[in-house]
Amino acid sequence: MLIDTFGRVATDLRVSLTDRCNLRCTYCMPEEGLQWLAKPDLLTDDEIVRLIRIAVSDLGIEEVRFTGGEPLLRPGLVGIVERVAALEHRPRMSLTTNGIGLERTATALRAAGLDRVNVSLDTLRPDVFRALTRRKRHEDVLRGLEAARAAGLTPVKVNSVLMPGLNDDEAPDLLAWAIAHDYELRFIEQMPLDAQHGWKREGMITAGDILASLRTRFTLTAEDQEERGSAPAERWTVDGGPHRVGVIASVTRPFCRACDRTRLTADGQIRTCLFATEETDLRAALRSDVPDAEIARIWKQAMWGKKAGSGLDDPSFLQPARPMSAIGG
Ligand code: GTP
Ligand code: 5AD
Ligand code: SF4
Repeated sequence: MLIDTFGRVATDLRVSLTDRCNLRCTYCMPEEGLQWLAKPDLLTDDEIVRLIRIAVSDLGIEEVRFTGGEPLLRPGLVGIVERVAALEHRPRMSLTTNGIGLERTATALRAAGLDRVNVSLDTLRPDVFRALTRRKRHEDVLRGLEAARAAGLTPVKVNSVLMPGLNDDEAPDLLAWAIAHDYELRFIEQMPLDAQHGWKREGMITAGDILASLRTRFTLTAEDQEERGSAPAERWTVDGGPHRVGVIASVTRPFCRACDRTRLTADGQIRTCLFATEETDLRAALRSDVPDAEIARIWKQAMWGKKAGSGLDDPSFLQPARPMSAIGG
């Protein structure tokens, strides 16, 4: 079991498969991209499957989410999913993607054993999409979403980040669209995890702003907190149901007390928190031929050091050195 000193138990593992991405969202990375991880530093498919096997067999992990960068850029993704699905203690498996390429791979991913996907889409307007992501790929994302639903990767969730002056007027339109297409929409507060360190609290759209905007067109009823469990999204029923909308308010309404996550970066570092400033190197252990029990011990020890929360409200808060794209969200 992966337990920390606050009694939280991690049952959810987020595995970043690559730090690369084919979009350049302004709240994430600069136009020119970043210094990508070198190939020899990345965990191999075999190493990833081994770590997931240890996590589900020996450490109590029940759910695995593949992230990036953009995980669909990892050539071995379908094979990894297939091998994880064949493990004795098969975890639930999901994927967080920008949707580009999903049109081609959704069916294969489903067949391999992936349960569901979350797709990032911040706007319904192609011109705004281009301004936000610096790429002309809006249509690809919409087609990817359709393909995910058709393949049964459901519920399909859509993640939207609202940016001032770009798409902050779009919350009600996004919700009407998501309801019409049967996607579960969640708005995410912008977090200080961008590579450019440009985040400013005064400049972000808060959960309060988002809810006020939605309420101009919809009646929202808060869901029972009991049902939320450890999910980052708080949810509201829209116009009496059955549709819902979520808000992931990591900045203004943090949910660290219920956190059940552990993370693995593409280069094999354990992160106990999205905002952790320290990491534990599992790759070195993997490559020095240690037995599974030793890997499990290192992972447990790392999680024991997990801090109470993100520290975002501390005056001494320091943004982690790794940007969101290399952590996996
Ligand atoms: P579901 O199980 O589908 O609800 O997944 P999820 O919402 O946890 O995953 P997703 O990858 O779609 O992440 C949505 C947003 O939540 C992203 O912006 C993540 O960075 C953020 N997020 C995920 N896990 C955590 C966490 O432990 N802490 C914080 N603060 N944010 C998180
Ligand atoms: N703040 C909030 N959300 C972000 N995402 C990427 N960068 C940030 C940020 N700085 C979102 C992506 C994706 C999810 C994994 O996190 O849009 O939906
Ligand atoms: Fe967990 Fe850290 Fe996110 Fe809080 S900020 S919910 S502790 S990962």
